[in-house]
This record gives sequence, C-alpha cells and structure tokens, in this order.
Amino acid sequence: MKFVFTLAWLLLAAAVQLPVATRAAESVRPGEIWPDNRGRHIQVHGGGILKFGDTFYWFGEDRSQDNLRSLRYVACYSSTNLTDWTFRNQVVKLADPENLGRGWVLERPKVFYNAPTKKFVLYAHIDNGNYQFASVAVFTCDTVDGDYRYLKSFRPLGQESRDIGQFVDDDGSAYLIFENRPYGFRIAKLSDDFLNVEKEICLIHAPLEGGALVHYNGLYYVIGSHMTGWHPNPNLYATAKSLAGPWSKFKDLAPPEKNTYGSQSTMLLKIPGTKTTSVIFMGDLWRPETQWDSRYLWMPLEIGDGKLSLPEPREWTLDVTTGEAKIK
Ligand code: DGJ
Repeated sequence: MKFVFTLAWLLLAAAVQLPVATRAAESVRPGEIWPDNRGRHIQVHGGGILKFGDTFYWFGEDRSQDNLRSLRYVACYSSTNLTDWTFRNQVVKLADPENLGRGWVLERPKVFYNAPTKKFVLYAHIDNGNYQFASVAVFTCDTVDGDYRYLKSFRPLGQESRDIGQFVDDDGSAYLIFENRPYGFRIAKLSDDFLNVEKEICLIHAPLEGGALVHYNGLYYVIGSHMTGWHPNPNLYATAKSLAGPWSKFKDLAPPEKNTYGSQSTMLLKIPGTKTTSVIFMGDLWRPETQWDSRYLWMPLEIGDGKLSLPEPREWTLDVTTGEAKIK
C-alpha cells in the first residue's frame, strides 16, 4: 500500500512538472520561473553568456537553496535557441580561497574563451562580507563546462573592483568592465592569454555598476545601474564611437519611474542573424531574502542611431538564425 502511494505521488509530481518544463521551449517570459531541462529554476544570477560553436553557455551565480553555505557556486547551462536550457555543471564549487571569512562573496561570473591557449577563463567579483576586498577572481578550465580551477585574485589595474561585466568586440579582443569606487567604472583590455587585466581603455566618470557593453552598427553602447544594493533603480546608457570615448551623457534606458521594471543590468547580448541583429538586455530581478528565487528579465532592446530603450516586459520569442525577436 505504501509503495502504491509513493508511486502515485511520484507520477503526480512528474505530471505537475511537465507543463512547466515544456512551456520554456516557446518563448521568454520575463520575471517568471525559468525551468531548465530538469524542471528546476535556472541558477545563473548576475550571469553572462558565452557562445562557443553553435551553442550558448549561460554562467552565473548558483544560489540553490540546497548548496553548502560555506561554498560559493557558479553554474553553467547550454542552449542552441536561448530559450531551452540544459543544466551542464556546477563549474565552480569553491571554499573561501583568500580567507575572507563568513559571508564572503563570489558574484557576477563571466567566461571568456581564449583561442590561442584553448582555455576557458572565468572572472568573478570576489569579496568579503562587507565588500572591502574588492578584487577579481580568475579561474581556468580546458572545457567549457568542466570543473574550473581557481588561479588567483587581484585588483585590476591596482584598483578596487566590485561588479564586473564582460565585453568581446567584433575583432575578438576581450575587455573587463569593472565598478571602481569612487572614480566611476573602467573598461580595461585583457592580456593576450586573458589571465590579466592589462590596459586601461577608459575611465567613465559615472558611479554605475552592473556594467555591460555592446557594439552595434558602428557605435558602442554602455549600460549600468546606480548603486542601490539589491534594490532596483533606473538603469542608464551612454554611447561612443570608440571604447576610449568620448562618451555621451547618460540617459534613461526606460521611464525612470519604472526602475528598469525591477531589474538590474548584467549583460547586453548581440544576436546577429540572417535577417537582422537583435540586442538583448539581460537583467536580474533580485530577491535578496530568497536569492535562489531571483528571476531574470530579458527583453530585446530598441536600438539604433544612438538610442537605446528597454520595452515594457512582455512574453517574446527569438529566432537565433534570423536574429528576429518578436514581442507577443
Ligand atoms: C549590487 C550588485 O550589483 C550585486 O551584484 C551585489 O553585489 C549587490 N549590490 C550587493 O548588495
């Protein structure tokens, strides 16, 4: 009797999960639970995407409720359509490598592929509980979704660095964007092997974090958020013809009273297709008290001629072949 009851319960649980898992194939629904191939909410907060071959890999902070409290985790998922995601691995499961103490953080991981060395290089913000260590951590791996090895931590260009963002230009050169209080945020070029932050390209005198960049139709667009902890604020953007600037004045990405629809920028993803090129705003809808349940706000941006605008979140679809994004 007990066996029959357990079996019935398992079947019911599977039946309940099925519609959740299958609906992910059709569209992107900002703010909703985004299930992976196992039916579990994707854990890639403050994340970034690396396209390798025909596959997109999404990396981010894994804040699963059942993670060990002493470790910090980065998860990796893969997809060919940016909508259905397969869990690959917890690529980082790290015990406090710099003796930072209780409450140490590993945030906003971003992965670059270095073609000359054939290594995947992961950068993350590493800090102590009160954010005074202000450094980056660097990891490497021989495979995209393997176990990443912790290499070192340092302050890029000798500067305090908290939120980081990644940018790879059309010519393959790779950059780290980092928030550098009290000066603003910096765009810096990585060394040839990507293991160091080598050269300052620009210091943008704006107190912004969650920095992200895209190069679209000959213009660079940078976005960032004000520094309000986990709470949303009106994210801003500026443009420049060269990464080194001069940068335009910062303007609102969405009506300021909407507070970026509750989200904070983490990446701008360019999808060049056969018909058009879409740029996707990737943002986090943080839930600070229940971080594992933080959601994602992805929307195709209205972009061009120096203007950038985040539309009101709605369900939408993307064709990665043609590059077309359609808001429903
Ligand atoms: C805002 C940052 O963007 C997040 O990554 C995180 O560091 C929080 N601040 C912590 O308050």
